[in-house]
Amino acid sequence: MQIDILTLFPQIFQGPFSEGIFKRATSRKLVQVNIHNIRDYTHDRHHIVDDYAYGGGAGMVLKPEPIFEAVEKVKQNIHPREGDKGLPVILLTPQGRLFSQQIAEELSRYSHLILICGRYEGIDERVRQHLATDEISIGDYVLGGGELAAMVLVDTVVRLLPGVLGSEASARDDSHATGLLEYPHYTRPEVYRSWSVPEVLLSGNHSQIAKWRRQQSILRTLKRRPEMLDKANLNSEERQLVNSLKKS
Ligand code: ADE
Repeated sequence: MQIDILTLFPQIFQGPFSEGIFKRATSRKLVQVNIHNIRDYTHDRHHIVDDYAYGGGAGMVLKPEPIFEAVEKVKQNIHPREGDKGLPVILLTPQGRLFSQQIAEELSRYSHLILICGRYEGIDERVRQHLATDEISIGDYVLGGGELAAMVLVDTVVRLLPGVLGSEASARDDSHATGLLEYPHYTRPEVYRSWSVPEVLLSGNHSQIAKWRRQQSILRTLKRRPEMLDKANLNSEERQLVNSLKKS
């Protein structure tokens, strides 16, 4: 997958994208991330990217021209692959659709993404209307700009790409991937400060372990995020268990 990110602050991306699974995914050529400075697409001597809002009011607005030009330039170097279902141009904004694991899975199926990070008080509306194909928010709060949101999105999508994680199973069982929160994990030592690892995990009985983990996932979801259970894929026995627990 290739991801092109347009930003006014390219430096912000230096750290996170050169560590951990990201570094591995990049060196294995499973993902390529290109950071573009929107300011490089201005033509005036002072490289101005913002201007006063028509109609007045406090705060500056990002001008449309450098953003359109940056996206158009990036698109010139993109050669669609067989089976591509279009090229998402995503604006990160608190006004977008709320990001989720499901949206990450949807985006992981594209071979290319273009992300636009907004800043200042706003972005010229024509960018939304005529350039972006999607708008995404990572939560109901306002960040200083779209950069951190872009990182969250990229991190979530990249770990879903085939071959990026060591074991495919670890993404499959993740909290949210199944519609449930993940079960508790333990490693050595078997007893730490008198706190023991649950007996069943030491039993070597794989079907019992799978059953215990599934129950723990359901219980944990019920306690912490009960609304998630409405959409979760539960069998009839599990559904009954949830209903009786809810009542008690
Ligand atoms: N830019 C500012 N706040 C944001 C948010 N919550 N999500 C995405 N982009 C943003």
